[in-house]
Amino acid sequence: MERELTRFETLPTHIGFIMDGNGRWAKQRGLARSAGHVEGAKTFKRIADYGSRLGIRYMTFYAFSTENWKRPAQEVDKIMSLFAEYLDWILHKRQENELRGVRVRFLGDRSKLSQELIDVMDYVEAETRDKDKCTISIAINYGGRDDVLHGVRQLLRDVEAGILSADDITENDISKRLYTGDMPDPDLIVRPSGEYRLSNFLTWQSAYSELWFSDVLWPDFDEDMLDACLRDYEKRQRRFGGV
Ligand code: IPE
Ligand code: IPE
Ligand code: MG
Repeated sequence: MERELTRFETLPTHIGFIMDGNGRWAKQRGLARSAGHVEGAKTFKRIADYGSRLGIRYMTFYAFSTENWKRPAQEVDKIMSLFAEYLDWILHKRQENELRGVRVRFLGDRSKLSQELIDVMDYVEAETRDKDKCTISIAINYGGRDDVLHGVRQLLRDVEAGILSADDITENDISKRLYTGDMPDPDLIVRPSGEYRLSNFLTWQSAYSELWFSDVLWPDFDEDMLDACLRDYEKRQRRFGGV
């Protein structure tokens, strides 16, 4: 049975989730790290589903960073094969997602991913392109600095092509060339796992994000925790430098 929806005075338009703590979750149970990633993927599905039902317009999930290639090849392979599973789930839920107007996007540098994965990513993006109620973005081989670098490269190409002049460049010219494109900046970034850092997630876009940290490990993050984040967010006073 579907969980009843909690009501909120105000919802963030865009929430970013740093899906961290899978390895420690597995370690606590004497399991291999890969078991933690399997469990973390289940949490992704649960939270993506619940968030879209609550009416959150944008949710961005940090799944694999540009730094995560430092891990043993076996672990990287496991994480990559789990993406294929995320995508299967998205396709499987297609009808329901369609009803909810779910669009799926991927953020990050695709050049290091397998062609097979890229093909499915392209397919899922193309299939959901016209949906606009809820955008679920998965950040894969994503780095905030890499995002800026990639955007700056495009900006320079446009300057070379005479589309823009260096003196006229605005913050918005940079923003719209990032992987997030025309998405609004995250209002709230949720980091479980007891780490108090952003680990290269949405570096440019998080300038005024509200941050929410918790010791809970990502596989244990659930609907009640999301409710707790949203309750907390309701109380935040955002000033953006004003009074
Ligand atoms: C997050 O969990 C998954 C990825 C970074 C891909 P971790 O694997 O980092 O889990 P911990 O931090 O070791 O517990
Ligand atoms: C952040 O987790 C990246 C993702 C969740 C994809 P990490 O486990 O890589 O972060 P650090 O190394 O603890 O900063
Ligand atoms: Mg970690």
